[in-house]
Amino acid sequence: MTSTISPLFLLEAIQQEIQQTKYGLKPTELYDPISYIMSLGGKRMRPLLTLMGAYLFSDDWQKAVKPALAVEVFHNFTLMHDDIMDQAPLRRGQPTVHEKWNHNTAILSGDVMLVNAYELLLDVETPYLKKVLARFNRTAAEVCEGQQLDMNFETRWNVTDGEYIEMIKLKTSVLLGFALELGGIVAGADDATCQLLREGGINIGLGFQLKDDLLDVYGDPAKFGKQVGGDIIANKKTFLLIEALEQAQDELKTGLVGWLQATDFDKTEKVQAVTAIYDQLGIRQLTENRINAYFTQGLANFEQIPADPARKALLLEFTQQLIGRES
Ligand code: IPE
Ligand code: IPE
Ligand code: MG
Ligand code: MG
Ligand code: MG
Repeated sequence: MTSTISPLFLLEAIQQEIQQTKYGLKPTELYDPISYIMSLGGKRMRPLLTLMGAYLFSDDWQKAVKPALAVEVFHNFTLMHDDIMDQAPLRRGQPTVHEKWNHNTAILSGDVMLVNAYELLLDVETPYLKKVLARFNRTAAEVCEGQQLDMNFETRWNVTDGEYIEMIKLKTSVLLGFALELGGIVAGADDATCQLLREGGINIGLGFQLKDDLLDVYGDPAKFGKQVGGDIIANKKTFLLIEALEQAQDELKTGLVGWLQATDFDKTEKVQAVTAIYDQLGIRQLTENRINAYFTQGLANFEQIPADPARKALLLEFTQQLIGRES
């Protein structure tokens, strides 16, 4: 029985649940965008983490499927709103909801997705429900805090490495931590173990967001599914830009600052010019080193989890795949 479990097998269970789930009936203008974004695919990494977290401690990982989907629906809600905030044209290789419909639709459909997420969480067994809701509420508030910091940083010049890490921990990593912890909670893991799951999830989440920043500059547009260069166009204070601002001297510094201050520019030209500055400063390698450091830390946390090594192997293998991802 154990031998049939693989990340692909768990992914199949998630995809089936997504196909069966109804988000609401009418007005269709409210619910169609939800079916749209949920059907665009994506890696489904967060629900997979939840199922792997549950499988570590129980054969009955199926009871984590609806809670896992709650995390995926919440994630897709944050993407719908994030794409408005970032003025993003593409998501998973397709037009974003606010582009295909309009801003108000993306706001309201996103709002009801948060409600859908709570609805799915109600499936958690009563003894665990209060803890799950408390952890989810804290996480969801933190994601909003991170998103606000991300916006605040767009117009600041002196964002430090430490401030950046705190921002991505909030906007991205805590949700990965929660996803994994959630699986542990519903499978009856104790508090110390749940904390280990959360910490490991947060560390791989830091590596994951750093990789997202890297792919935003160096990704293959055909694989990445998002507009490459979007962070450069918006002056996002990514790890790459913060390091470049710190290291650039003389003409490189003047050139970089010039592009950041430009108000009337050709987007493609700005992306090319800033990328060329990153290249000259060796920012890509620097970022890759940091990514590896956080993933290594996450893997070390996972090693400590008191669970069957054969089951843990699934989580370790999946984490390795995330390090090398291209989308
Ligand atoms: C995108 O998340 C948002 C970030 C936190 C970088 P994913 O890269 O997991 O997006 P999908 O769900 O696979 O499309
Ligand atoms: C998004 O960060 C984090 C959340 C959606 C909460 P990004 O803005 O970097 O994500 P992408 O690149 O649009 O997926
Ligand atoms: Mg964003
Ligand atoms: Mg974005
Ligand atoms: Mg990004």
